[in-house]
Amino acid sequence: MKVSAIKDGTVIDHIPAKNLFKAISILGLDKIDTQITFGTNLESKRLGSKAIIKLSDVFFRDEDINKIALVAPLANLNIIRNYEVIEKRSVVVPDQIIGFVKCYNPQCITNHEEITSRFQVISKSEVTLRCCYCEKLVFQEDIDIR
Ligand code: CTP
Ligand code: ZN
Repeated sequence: MKVSAIKDGTVIDHIPAKNLFKAISILGLDKIDTQITFGTNLESKRLGSKAIIKLSDVFFRDEDINKIALVAPLANLNIIRNYEVIEKRSVVVPDQIIGFVKCYNPQCITNHEEITSRFQVISKSEVTLRCCYCEKLVFQEDIDIR
């Protein structure tokens, strides 16, 4: 174990190393004051190089944690109580994305006015989003976090 164990909280494993900072930003982890430990560029058989986030005393609601499925579709959650893993969950790509992805179309009204972005998820395997305002498609590799 390269990153030390936690007593209570959530361990998010199998984040692609290149998307660690996007995941941090989506979850708003730059704004919390409980203990967080990160490991990145760790070896992974499935991902090549993975990152892990350990959050002491933080437990997510499904709709919050599922937001990271856009940048970490294979991520899994380990819920820790008194040093034991009491639950394992996978993230699920939501049906709609509201508010934290930027539309890829520079002409889109959401890039010019104070409007919350909204996308319909039209594919969950190779994640593809459709902007509800301009209908432009945003593909996985172009997902830009606000
Ligand atoms: N973990 C932790 N603190 C604990 C218990 C577990 O930080 N008190 C972390 C482990 O380091 C691991 C993850 O939670 O990254 C899952 O723990 P566990 O299921 O014990 O490990 P593995 O069997 O290796 O998990 P997987 O099968 O998901 O790879
Ligand atoms: Zn748009």
